[in-house]
Amino acid sequence: MRTQYCGEVGRAQIDQTITVAGWAQRRRDHGGVIFVDLRDRSGLLQIVFDPDRPEVFAQAERIRNEFVLEVSGKVRARPAGTTNANLKSGEVELLCQQLTILNRAEPLPFQLDETVSEEVRLKYRYLDLRREQMRDRLLLRHRITRAMRHYLDENGFIDIETPMLTKATPEGARDYLVPSRTHPRKFFALPQSPQIFKQLLMVAGFDRYYQIVRCFRDEDLRADRQPEFTQLDIETSFLDQEQIQQLMEGLFVHLFDQVLGVKIPQPLPRMTYAEAMRRFGSDKPDLRVPLELVDVADLVQGCDFKVFAGPAADPNGRVTALRVPGGGKLTRKDIDDCTAFVARYGAKGLAYVKVNASAQGREGLQSPILKFLSDAAVSGILERTGAADGDLIFFGADTARVVSDALGALRVKLGHDLKMLDAGWKALWVVDFPMFEWDADTKRWAAMHHPFTSPKNLDPATLAASPGTAVAKAYDLVLNGSELGGGSVRIHSQELQSTVFDLLGIDAQEARLKFGFLLDALKLGAPPHGGIAFGLDRIAMLMAGAESIRDVIAFPKTQTAACPLTDAPTEVSEAQLKELHIRVHVPVKID
Ligand code: AMO
Ligand code: AMP
Repeated sequence: MRTQYCGEVGRAQIDQTITVAGWAQRRRDHGGVIFVDLRDRSGLLQIVFDPDRPEVFAQAERIRNEFVLEVSGKVRARPAGTTNANLKSGEVELLCQQLTILNRAEPLPFQLDETVSEEVRLKYRYLDLRREQMRDRLLLRHRITRAMRHYLDENGFIDIETPMLTKATPEGARDYLVPSRTHPRKFFALPQSPQIFKQLLMVAGFDRYYQIVRCFRDEDLRADRQPEFTQLDIETSFLDQEQIQQLMEGLFVHLFDQVLGVKIPQPLPRMTYAEAMRRFGSDKPDLRVPLELVDVADLVQGCDFKVFAGPAADPNGRVTALRVPGGGKLTRKDIDDCTAFVARYGAKGLAYVKVNASAQGREGLQSPILKFLSDAAVSGILERTGAADGDLIFFGADTARVVSDALGALRVKLGHDLKMLDAGWKALWVVDFPMFEWDADTKRWAAMHHPFTSPKNLDPATLAASPGTAVAKAYDLVLNGSELGGGSVRIHSQELQSTVFDLLGIDAQEARLKFGFLLDALKLGAPPHGGIAFGLDRIAMLMAGAESIRDVIAFPKTQTAACPLTDAPTEVSEAQLKELHIRVHVPVKID
């Protein structure tokens, strides 16, 4: 039908006869002349209907918003003074010679330039996606996957698909289950990631694998989490940790260059997990925020303030200070807001010291806890934090976990609120993660990455003797405080894999039941291998400057993991349930 896209028509086409097709974004009647902004995925083109052609004109009078049109005519320059610099096609217009109304549209439930709730946007997602911003985001996403595929192809990676109907993969979330009709009482799990399959592809000898793949995790949803999301999933053989990181860093840098024209300096900084937690209270530090945590436990040990002295003396405790330059201007209310904010992370309070005039000693300071602290502690804190007049110092004292979470989050919040963020892209690798973390609820060790991650010390006996100090060959790529990707070198020895399962409280029988196929493969010629998975939605969200990953997914789920467009999930018929050997427990309704 069409000869070109609306947005591509420009001065070069003047006097040419062309055909375009798209949606009537807006109709304006101007003193006997009708103008229609015709929209397709490339942009807008102004169509002019002149009363000189009465049949065409009469038809144009029937056009309403979002009618689907095909228009043929001659391109001409817009008269001086009527050009539109905001439009790619803003210097020209199409004088219509022939109009076909391909389809009508009833009045839309909302106007495309209207602000409506996310629920409504998702219910009519196909209308929401007609908006320029949403169109641009999906086009951006396409450019991202294209650049990924290009880099990986250039570097010898092969795209291989893995099953969606499979067995549970231990990535730490709940599974989405699919009942089997042919195997009564049995269920498939949708993959939380293709982790084990990509390892098996290495055992099979494919050497370099990638896949842009959907993963399913039934977990609490947030702005950067969806129940089904997309990974760029990668696995390689015969490369060590450093080589894998370099190859993946190359991919990341290529992506920003190709898609946004942004040159990210290489090598990316690397920071150990321990350092990231110590300085930023987070394993995905936002390096755009120029604030750091400074530990002061040694300075307040044995002081009169039990809130500080307790954690200072506890090996699992932490007492830390966060200096806020210029924070002296924070009001009582600001500080109360910050206190309420850290309470969400379990902090029981938020002590502070305002430094008004340090030359005046204690007199120059303002704080509810000053009376508890010795002169040595006060001067030690001022010196270590580098506090200057006009600054404020916040304090956190509790278990290390609570303090890091609370003050780490406060650091980022203050960076945003006080507009202290450095512009641009701050990426880094976080490395040397602990292998295991202690789960106080189950009283078991849990894998910090996943159970297939290799420890740095490969000796199973040493590992079993002190799991708490074992360091993993794991790495996360962090950008502006967001975890874009995570991966590891894998265990390729069956013996070591069994030791790790054992440490995780998975006994031999359970290991065989759940992962027997992997353990067998590790005995049948498994090469050293490792990889990574990037969160495509998160990358697209950051590149698009969007607030939520829902804004870069064509058809996302809501915060309650539902789809307002299709109304999924839905009830199913008795017959279907019967076929699946399932009986649904109907909850009793209480009015
Ligand atoms: P991991 O669980 O760290 O690793 O996931 C890799 C990346 O996927 C993204 N991501 C998510 N994005 C949106 N919604 C979610 N619910 C969600 N969960 C994770 C993140 C994360 O960095 N198999 C391993 C990878 C490996 O070891 O190679 C894995 O899945 O950006
Ligand atoms: P209180 O003695 O409870 O009034 O606390 C005195 C000050 O210490 C207040 O500013 C509290 O916000 C603060 N505070 C209390 N508990 C903690 C804590 N665990 N970490 C940091 N500050 C705290």
